[in-house]
Amino acid sequence: MKRIISVSAPGQIFLFGEHAVVYGQPALATAINIRTEAKAKSRTDNQIKIGSEGVGDLEGRVKKSNGKWKIQKKTGDLSRLRFVVKTVELTLNHLNEGRGFELHIDSEVPVGSGLGSSSAVTTATAAAISSILDGNLSRDEISDIAYDAEMKVQGAASKTGVKVATHGGFLKVSDDKMNPIKDISELKVLIGNTGNYGNTGKIVKKVRLARESRPKIINPIIEAIGKTTEAGIKSLQEKNLKKAGVLMNVNQNLLEGLGVSSPKLRELITAARDAGAEGAKITGAGGGGCMVALSQEPLDRISKAIEEKGGEPMKVKVGVEGLEF
Ligand code: MEV
Repeated sequence: MKRIISVSAPGQIFLFGEHAVVYGQPALATAINIRTEAKAKSRTDNQIKIGSEGVGDLEGRVKKSNGKWKIQKKTGDLSRLRFVVKTVELTLNHLNEGRGFELHIDSEVPVGSGLGSSSAVTTATAAAISSILDGNLSRDEISDIAYDAEMKVQGAASKTGVKVATHGGFLKVSDDKMNPIKDISELKVLIGNTGNYGNTGKIVKKVRLARESRPKIINPIIEAIGKTTEAGIKSLQEKNLKKAGVLMNVNQNLLEGLGVSSPKLRELITAARDAGAEGAKITGAGGGGCMVALSQEPLDRISKAIEEKGGEPMKVKVGVEGLEF
């Protein structure tokens, strides 16, 4: 009998610490109520069908080659599904399993937006495929597979994305350590999407090259971002949103120093601050994608200001559930 399994993983924002987290500094990220759903259906043969709303379709079959399970005879849109394909192959090899399946991905998280679309899709895919193949993997095993897929497709990445996608809530991440931060109350957060695509792999590489060529300048900026994260977490726990906002602005200035902002991001950030946000900054890799604003007042004025500048405002709930499966 055919079985169907449905799972979902959240997108995320960084309140503090993106980029610096790649070099072992702490970051604070939180799961948002914009999610990626993966539905898997069992098959009795070795055929694979992957369908994804807006990202394309792919067909193939699972075969072992040189001791590894691979999707062979692929047809369809491979490049845009590369995070999914890599996660599927890693999951099959982790389970040493060659049965086929059908997978449908439906994501609300815009690609290249800095909202963790690749972490949400790799996490949801690993969870859906392992469940339909009776793999019974733990959350940590799922996030390890998802992280491996991100590293292989995109290059350097921290574990923040996949940890937030699996565990949800507010997470402080540094190196391999992850600490849930429990005592942050509900926050009024508005995301502004520039609509421009940000290539995470390229921007992370840009920071790495800057760090290699000017270590004496770039390393102190990275360390200062880490200190801003620590102070930011404390101010949120103390419910001092004014101070948290100031620290978000400091974090943004430090990100400007790393060269990861863009004129459009700057414009939306300034508009949000002028409309009353306590603080505003890039979220995620930058170069395009989204900014995020924190407010003590209702978000309507900031939302309107973002819209007037040609951005897409999104009111989101933060601290939501991680992987649901
Ligand atoms: C990208 O969403 C966030 C970065 O810090 C990279 C990472 O943590 O993997 C720029």
